[in-house]
Amino acid sequence: MANDHDTVAYDVEDGIAWLRFNRPDKRNAMSPTLNRAMTAALDELEFRDDVSVLVLTGEGQAWTAGMDLKEYFRETEAHGLKGVRKAQSESYGWWRRLRWYQKPTIAMVNGWCFGGGYGPLYACDLAFAAEEAKFGLSEINWGILPGGGATKVAVELMPMRKAMYHAMTGEMIDGATAAQWGLVNEALPLDQLKARVTEVANVLAAKNPVALKATKDAVRRVGLMAYDEAEDYLVRAQEAANSFDNEGRKEGIRQFIDEKSYKPGLGAYDK
Ligand code: ACO
Repeated sequence: MANDHDTVAYDVEDGIAWLRFNRPDKRNAMSPTLNRAMTAALDELEFRDDVSVLVLTGEGQAWTAGMDLKEYFRETEAHGLKGVRKAQSESYGWWRRLRWYQKPTIAMVNGWCFGGGYGPLYACDLAFAAEEAKFGLSEINWGILPGGGATKVAVELMPMRKAMYHAMTGEMIDGATAAQWGLVNEALPLDQLKARVTEVANVLAAKNPVALKATKDAVRRVGLMAYDEAEDYLVRAQEAANSFDNEGRKEGIRQFIDEKSYKPGLGAYDK
């Protein structure tokens, strides 16, 4: 099934929602229109029973060339602070939605990824890039600091010296370097990217979805906690997950202990 918001498009196939930045002529730069369309698409897909995993990718040569310098910056600034704040809340808003999305998410970075693009890149749980893709904090090249969370993303994902060099020089790195520096999980030749992402999406789709949502949230949350706080949070998160999924984990135990039909160390139980 397909849907089209013009600047954003998606298809749902075999449990995977393939959501695309869809302004290839503008290298998928994020305009206010695109940001609103992304919010709408995320709303439409989040609780669909036929969607197990969401993949965010780009049409054409780009994943996204970052914020649209004309429509996101120049045109909104013409409306003063009110215009700027509205545009910020629309873009930051859908990245935040994506960071805490109900379904597992994968960034499939097919090409250019600049500046503001680091927001949705970080928001996705996993990220796979084409070796040919190019990543850059180009803000310094046109005279601003990497705002909108981009500096935070660099510092969260990369060692400090790499983050500092990346932010201060504005030099691009390719997909393979992005994988070495921790921006993405893996880099592969572009013609193998979709097959690998499909493979990983299918691994995630086979897991207990309640446990998966609790797990991805826990990984993002515990980083800022001391050990005791994290331990307490994780106990309570598991108890909350149990209230949504009383039978799943019991079935997981049953198939291993009683039925001996799988081994949790080697793969997922049969949902
Ligand atoms: N904002 C607005 N328009 C853009 C953007 C952008 N970020 N990126 C590309 N476009 C537009 C171009 O203006 C051009 O429009 P036109 O056809 O009407 O002239 C069209 O997209 C194609 O762009 P080209 O530059 O011709 O494409 P090319 O393939 O040669 O280069 C590249 C691609 C390297 C991505 C280049 O477009 C570029 O440097 N874009 C800006 C990247 C950037 O610095 N983004 C901002 C990051 S900072 C932030 O997000 C806060």
